Amino acid sequence: MKEKENGITKSANFLHKIENHFMEIAPRYRKLRTTDMEPILFIERELNDANRMHGADIGCGAGRYTLRLAKQLGKKCHLLHCIDKSEHMLIQLKKFFGKHSINHFKILHSDAHKIPLETDSLDFVVSFNAVHHFDMPNFLKESSRILKSKSRLFVYTRLKSQNTRNVWGMHFPNFTDKENRLYELDELEHMIENTPNLSLKSIRFFEYERTSTLARLEEQARGYHYSTFRLFSKKEFDKSIRTFKKNIIENYDVNNVTWKDQNILLVIES
Ligand SMILES: C[S@@+](CC[C@H](N)C(=O)[O-])C[C@H]1O[C@@H](n2cnc3c(N)ncnc32)[C@H](O)[C@@H]1O
Repeated sequence: MKEKENGITKSANFLHKIENHFMEIAPRYRKLRTTDMEPILFIERELNDANRMHGADIGCGAGRYTLRLAKQLGKKCHLLHCIDKSEHMLIQLKKFFGKHSINHFKILHSDAHKIPLETDSLDFVVSFNAVHHFDMPNFLKESSRILKSKSRLFVYTRLKSQNTRNVWGMHFPNFTDKENRLYELDELEHMIENTPNLSLKSIRFFEYERTSTLARLEEQARGYHYSTFRLFSKKEFDKSIRTFKKNIIENYDVNNVTWKDQNILLVIES
């Protein structure tokens, strides 16, 4: 079976490899990634008028953004559906929410393209760093189905071009060539335009100043903090990380590596 995503046909084998990736990385996922509050604060402001909302985070993973959103919205959110196709990620999310005494959530082990929720049942849907794993047109269609009229879908992602400007895109050979699942803005706009009952309301660009050490960066890459690194063979990865280290040593103080990460947030109205 093949699934067409971003103009690329992904084989069942490829999808299986990525599923295994999320299974393996689930217990350490939150520690390997950097989580930013800015998109959460932005979404909270956008949802300011509403009350007792029902929402969903699709592709929620181990819940690092879901938890922040649940806390930030507080009582304004009555029920948050945490949806992911990886049960290993959802196990981590459940423990994480338990530790933080957040109880107004439901876990749904489900595919983003066929969600077991009623039509017109949600006040908002969010998705962080996940849409490049989905079949985007079907995800948009399904989000439109479960959202009530005049409610919002928030998609937080990084564009293909933004990916070329981060520390990996600039210094890790073949990082951007291997990562061919990300979209450009015009591709996202086109898919939204082609989804009945959805329209793009606004676009917000985010830029974060980052500082790290070479040791931490190497730990992240070797820990596969981006699934992109799974797309390298062992030989390719070893070669690229050697060059990456050389590039960092030549261009920075290894204890003060600086760059900018960029992301985009699409506010889509149903
Ligand atoms: C890069 S992680 C991001 C997780 C989380 N949103 C975050 O920012 O930490 C992508 C998540 O999407 C999930 N995923 C991938 N394909 C999916 C699909 N078709 N349906 C639902 N979830 C999916 C993966 O299991 C993984 O947890």
